[in-house]
Amino acid sequence: MHAVVLVGGFGTRLRPLTLSTPKPLLPIANVRQLEHLIANLGTAGVTEVVLAIGFKPEPFFEAFPEGVCAGIKLHYAVEPEPLDTAGAIAFAARHAGVNETFVVMNGDIMCDVDIAELVKFHKARGAEGTLHLTPVEDPSQYGVVEVNEDGWVQRFVEKPAPGETDSRVINAGTYVLEPSVLDRMPVNQKLSIERVVFPAMVAEGVLAAMPTNDYWIDTGRPDTYLQSNLDLIDGTRSLILSSVGINSVIAPSASITHSVIGENAVIGEGCVVIDSVVLPGATVGKRVRLERSLVMGQVEDDASLTDCVIGEHAVIAVGAELIAQRVPNPDEIK
Ligand code: GTP
Repeated sequence: MHAVVLVGGFGTRLRPLTLSTPKPLLPIANVRQLEHLIANLGTAGVTEVVLAIGFKPEPFFEAFPEGVCAGIKLHYAVEPEPLDTAGAIAFAARHAGVNETFVVMNGDIMCDVDIAELVKFHKARGAEGTLHLTPVEDPSQYGVVEVNEDGWVQRFVEKPAPGETDSRVINAGTYVLEPSVLDRMPVNQKLSIERVVFPAMVAEGVLAAMPTNDYWIDTGRPDTYLQSNLDLIDGTRSLILSSVGINSVIAPSASITHSVIGENAVIGEGCVVIDSVVLPGATVGKRVRLERSLVMGQVEDDASLTDCVIGEHAVIAVGAELIAQRVPNPDEIK
């Protein structure tokens, strides 16, 4: 079975980290997000993955020079220009010659859904498409999905006002699709699957959906990206990974609490690091305090960062005290 993984978004919410590294290639507990996703697809019988790349393909070629990820063969489908979600799925599936039931996954989620179960659910109903749904506490920021008791989608409600719907489940970004869905997507045209293709399928009664309570997080914002890292080191998920990457150098007097230190990162003497991610190759000087921060660049001695996101080429000066800042500030980058 083929899977198309959407990796072509701009990742604007996670800038400046995504200015140098596409979101799906950022590590989560020292394993690239894409590897986590593709490993899960592999357990469901996916044998070939098509990466739907909207722009900047080089980092993907460099990350997987053998064209293999988590033991699974990769195809690279590079769009002539970003084609939005449906355009990208159609381009990628045609590129790989998909002609039977296939899986689609957004490249910016972490989840433990059993994809084989999703495929079974889809086939049992004879659906043309099936969405995975996940519950949220406050649906007002999401596109909520209403499903009947037989598992067929009835309606999408975008950012519902209080009382507008009883549903608390949202599109979780994993789909099973029949190849006939591709006929709904014109060749090389920008098109959104969420806003155009799925509503048309609901109108025809051919879109099913399976809600589950499995672990699920959209890693696209700094706070959720941080959370997805910490969830993999503290036992929140069944899988527990090491919090310290290979070849990192951590001074013995540094105190590291509930944090991930990336490969080849350096943490100087007397540092205090709490609830943070220091990304691969970052350097943190002496007596630096990091709290709830993501650091990719360099932080010099005696600086203190709280709720900050520091990009790859940024240098935070000696003694700087920053709260809730992004460096460089993505709003000031053209
Ligand atoms: P933000 O800019 O921070 O909103 O992130 P994003 O660009 O990734 O957007 P969003 O989270 O809405 O995208 C959902 C999924 O579709 C992600 O996995 C994106 O990588 C992917 N995606 C969005 N637009 C395109 C596109 O034009 N081409 C491809 N190939 N993938 C896309």
